[in-house]
Amino acid sequence: MSRILNFSAGPSMLPEEVLQQAREEMLDWQKTGMSVMEMSHRGKYFLTIAEQLSADLKELLNIPDDYKVLFLQGGATAQFAMIPKNILAGKKSANYVLTGAWSKKAIKEAKKYCDVNIAASSEADNFTTIPDFDSWQVDELAGYLHYTPNETIHGVEFHQVPEMTDLPLVVDMSSNILSKPLNIEQYGLIYAGSQKNMGPAGVTVVIVRDDLVGNADPTTPSVFDYAEQSGNDSMLNTPATYNWYLVGLVLQWLKKQGGLAAIEQINIRKSSKLYQFIDESSFYSNPVDKVCRSRMNIPFILKDSALDSEFLQQAQANGLEALKGHRSVGGMRASIYNAMPEQGVDALIQFMAEFERTH
Ligand SMILES: Cc1ncc(COP(=O)(O)O)c(C=O)c1O
Repeated sequence: MSRILNFSAGPSMLPEEVLQQAREEMLDWQKTGMSVMEMSHRGKYFLTIAEQLSADLKELLNIPDDYKVLFLQGGATAQFAMIPKNILAGKKSANYVLTGAWSKKAIKEAKKYCDVNIAASSEADNFTTIPDFDSWQVDELAGYLHYTPNETIHGVEFHQVPEMTDLPLVVDMSSNILSKPLNIEQYGLIYAGSQKNMGPAGVTVVIVRDDLVGNADPTTPSVFDYAEQSGNDSMLNTPATYNWYLVGLVLQWLKKQGGLAAIEQINIRKSSKLYQFIDESSFYSNPVDKVCRSRMNIPFILKDSALDSEFLQQAQANGLEALKGHRSVGGMRASIYNAMPEQGVDALIQFMAEFERTH
């Protein structure tokens, strides 16, 4: 068996140990004689898996008791709509910060349900920076303040939490959840799709403070009503059972790595060495402000874009896959989530250096 180094932005690489464990347990989970896929979600075996999943996420992220943890479907994209439906609580508007392609999508969707105040935007800088917190214009009468802590496409990450308002902070952590410890109490609501740092696609985690639950607009579909899902342990309808199990395996793997403080150190090391290599080269460059560069998604361009396709072809021939940048920004992007081993980043740097030398 030979496995590639997969730099995809998501769905992305999973820890090999997790895939192996899933393979071993595929036909017979813990001597039950059945696959997790075949279990009733109401049965005692699956409930054990579900309870462990929730307990492990609470432990890893140190989630306080006054927050609900939900495992939903529909991806982060469904949450773009469900957040205003659930938490505006009669308010007419919400604040959004525009820092890249994903916050733009969140804003477009929210506009169907409320007035949107763009509290800050880096669009004029081609989404290569985060506007100074001092410049944000937050409407204090609005329902909440939404931002995207890691812009997967533009490679922009918040390394500080904005604290200029008492409004609930609502954040799309799809591409950096579980990459570092968080102080959950700084947030009203955190949401994230699973397909980057948590497992395969198909699970959407919502961590929401109790006071924001129970105020949904009456037209909210029941499966997306936080109170209804919370009251039913995220099983108002049949959940994505096998995906919950796989996310659970990833969380157990993370605990074995030493938890989020340990994984953060590895993520700092991995990303710093790639940025340092790019910055020291005159052949490659990264356009993002140094203070807000993503540790997860690292876009870079070649000095001569005519070499792009040759770069990608040769990378692939060397077992380095999915380095093509998003079509909206071009160039390259290396997504190096938790499951990308440090040797994978070393191999990428070595390849890039060799390509530079021969071109
Ligand atoms: C930051 C961010 N938000 C939202 C999404 C959309 O997620 P989904 O496709 O699960 O709805 C993505 C997907 O890549 C993302 O990176």
